Amino acid sequence: MSDGTRDAAWWHSLRSKLKNWYDQSHRDLPWRETKDPYRIWISEIMLQQTQVATVIDYYHRFLAAFPDVQTLASADEQEVLALWAGLGYYRRARQMHAAAKGIVEELDGQFPSTLEGVLDLPGVGRYTAGAITSFAYDLPSPILEANTIRLFSRLIKFEEDVTKRESQTKLWEFAVELVAVKKQSPGKLNQAAMELGSQVCVPKSPSCTSCPVSKICPTFHDGLQDRIPKPKAKKQYIDQSHVLVAVQRKGKLLLRRNQKGEWWEGLWDFPRAALPKFLKNQKQIKSLTPIQEVLEEELRSRFSLSFVCNSWFHSLKHAVTKYKIQLHCYTAELDDKLPSGEEDWKWFKPSEAAELPLTASAKRVLKQWNRQMDAKKSMLS
Ligand code: ADE
Repeated sequence: MSDGTRDAAWWHSLRSKLKNWYDQSHRDLPWRETKDPYRIWISEIMLQQTQVATVIDYYHRFLAAFPDVQTLASADEQEVLALWAGLGYYRRARQMHAAAKGIVEELDGQFPSTLEGVLDLPGVGRYTAGAITSFAYDLPSPILEANTIRLFSRLIKFEEDVTKRESQTKLWEFAVELVAVKKQSPGKLNQAAMELGSQVCVPKSPSCTSCPVSKICPTFHDGLQDRIPKPKAKKQYIDQSHVLVAVQRKGKLLLRRNQKGEWWEGLWDFPRAALPKFLKNQKQIKSLTPIQEVLEEELRSRFSLSFVCNSWFHSLKHAVTKYKIQLHCYTAELDDKLPSGEEDWKWFKPSEAAELPLTASAKRVLKQWNRQMDAKKSMLS
């Protein structure tokens, strides 16, 4: 079988096999029980960077708080972020909130009903607009995301690097053709392709023996599943070290809200600064004395506030885009007053801090902090 056998009979066979398989085998997911474009939009934004299993609870909680576009538009940003806390990539939530306000103010509260209209919403790209309009309105809008890229590449035995612009063009053309016939249920075809890609046509050892389209798949025919899609080159990370300080006063911790243009904009974090060079020596890090001045100077130049670092209490690793970060945490004191009228620095009880939209690493540090405080208390009692 070559890759050039996609005549009308092949497409007909693909569409009917996909839909039959989907009818019998799809997972029941809450956003598949609705045609409400608002609900489908929320689910698709949540699913952009997050696994299905994680999204389900968030989806229910979010829609219980904001059941329609009006309630979302009139919510406070902090409420929206708090319901998003833990999903990460908070820009998604902020853009969704802005989009809801736009729908209420400019579109009379009516969710857009065309592909172009949905594409105009902040935070919505070609995939998401295709998903919303095909699932909610059964429009013949194509979709292409990780699962369908893999499935489509195999269905056309596509051996090039799928991240290249020309490759994407070719795969989008396939996606367009798949849903081109309106009476063939474009929404169901898109759902089916995505479901098959995520459940059967998986990256490693796909389940070709139980795949409904293996008979018409040239990649299966030629045994090239391990080579298609072409494996990605390993991601190159840049190493960085950060210092973070837990400053305590009268049982409260000092937190700062990240500013516009900073990483994790709008989320609360412990004061932290990047360190000039990668610190590897665990002894230096834990004993603090040899590096104390450097840490304090970095914090002073970042925040124009004087901190006195006291002792190391935790180190952890986390990754942000292309950075791998070693985060070293110290207890500290603030040797200054906070500037008056300042809203983005605040003292919080640990229990209050846990309710805030925190950065993911601040959440981990807070947990560690509480654990150590509890251990100290139980030693004293
Ligand atoms: N990933 C992105 N969108 C999805 C959907 N609608 N169902 C399952 N997984 C998805």
